[in-house]
Amino acid sequence: MEILIRENDKQKFQKLDKVIARYNVEAGMLIRILQEAQNIFGYLPADVQSYIAKELKLPISTINGVVSFYSLFSQEPRGKYVIGICMGTACYVKGSQEILNAIKEELAIDVGETSVDKMFTLKATRCIGACGLAPVITINENVHGRLSPADIPSILYQYTKESRQTGLRN
Ligand code: FES
Repeated sequence: MEILIRENDKQKFQKLDKVIARYNVEAGMLIRILQEAQNIFGYLPADVQSYIAKELKLPISTINGVVSFYSLFSQEPRGKYVIGICMGTACYVKGSQEILNAIKEELAIDVGETSVDKMFTLKATRCIGACGLAPVITINENVHGRLSPADIPSILYQYTKESRQTGLRN
């Protein structure tokens, strides 16, 4: 299958070539390759999956099966920060619905959507095992607990600010 590479993605595919070359020597490194590919592209669109399949001489169905199976992989563009709102029982009882409403209002997005500035993606999750801190949200790997809706604007602002500062440093 012919894969058309967009001009502005060429450098990204060159980086991906290096990742494939690094890991391809060892069997079972598909997940590492997919993780790094997601770091490069931000997500794993169909053309990137096809490219990896071709380079590794694997059926596309194998690649897509792994990408679909693991929740850490995304086939859609995601924000820089992924917010997971826990909708497990303990969090729900402690008001996760109000937290969710506050996030939706602050970012003007619904569950499954990404903010216009590509900063935040909102997801609903099951219990993450931090019920003692209910209600809980995760933002990438950070856990924020014992929240009230009034906490949401300042928490989101911290991430936006941090992102701007990192952007300035780069
Ligand atoms: S129910 Fe939310 S962390 Fe357990």
